[in-house]
Amino acid sequence: MSDQVCGAEGLVRVRPARDSDRRAVGHLLAVVFADKFAPVFGCDHDRTAAILADLPPAGTVYVAEGAGQVVGTFTLVLDERPPAPVWPVLRRHLRLGAAVRAFLLLELLGTSRPDRHTALVEAVAVLPEWRGRGVGRRMMAEALAEARRAGRQRVGLYVVEGNHPAVHLYTSLGFRVQATHRLFWARPVFGARRVLYMTAEVGLPPPRR
Ligand SMILES: CC(C)(COP(=O)(O)OP(=O)(O)OC[C@H]1O[C@@H](n2cnc3c(N)ncnc32)[C@H](O)[C@@H]1OP(=O)(O)O)[C@@H](O)C(=O)NCCC(=O)NCCS
Repeated sequence: MSDQVCGAEGLVRVRPARDSDRRAVGHLLAVVFADKFAPVFGCDHDRTAAILADLPPAGTVYVAEGAGQVVGTFTLVLDERPPAPVWPVLRRHLRLGAAVRAFLLLELLGTSRPDRHTALVEAVAVLPEWRGRGVGRRMMAEALAEARRAGRQRVGLYVVEGNHPAVHLYTSLGFRVQATHRLFWARPVFGARRVLYMTAEVGLPPPRR
C-alpha cells in the first residue's frame, strides 16, 4: 500500500477497511449506487446506508482514504465459499414485507463466486466529488496487485455496458470483455441493461527470494 495519489486535499491511500469504516462505506455505497439500491431498500438514504454497512461483504473490503475520510471503496472476492446470510440483517432494518422484497431483489442481482484462478472485484465506488483524480485507478491497481499476491491469474468484474467512466478505466488497465449478459429479468426494476464481464490477467507473481 505504498503508492499514493494526490487529491486536492492531499494524499489518498488505499487500505483494507476496518470495522470502524463500515458506516462510511455504507454511506458511500448508498450515495454512489442510489439508483441500484432504491428499488431494493426504498428511498430512505440513511436506512439504505445502515443496511449496506451491516450486510456481510462478499469479500475483503478496501477503502481509499483522503482528507481523513473514506472517499472510495472496492471489494476483492478471493473466496469460493457462499457469502454469509443476509436475511437477519434485512429483518433487523426492514418490516417483513420489505425484507422479503429486498431479499428477492438481492437474489436477482445475484452474487458471483470466483474460480480458484480468478479474483472478483465488486462494488467499486468513488464519491462524486473525488472522481477524476486517480482514486479509481489507484484502487484497481491495488486490487490487481492483491490478486497477484494471492496467486490468482486474473481479475474479473461485472460492469453495466453504458458505464463509460468505469469501462474506460478498466480497459486502460488491461481488462477485456469476455461475455455480455442481458438482464431481461431486471428490466422492470432496474431498467433494461446489459452487463459486461471483463477480465484482466495479473501477470506472474514476484519470484521467491
Ligand atoms: C468508475 C469510478 C470508480 C472511477 O473512479 P475515478 O476516481 O473517477 O477514476 P480515475 O480518476 O482513476 O479515472 C480513471 C479513468 O476514467 C476516466 N474517466 C473519468 N470520468 C470519466 C467519464 N465521465 N467518461 C469517460 N472516462 C472518464 C478518467 O479520465 C481516467 O482515465 P485517464 O487516467 O486515462 O484520464 C467512478 O466514476 C465511480 O465511482 N463511478 C460510479 C460507480 C461505478 O460505476 N462503479 C463501477 C461499477 S463496475
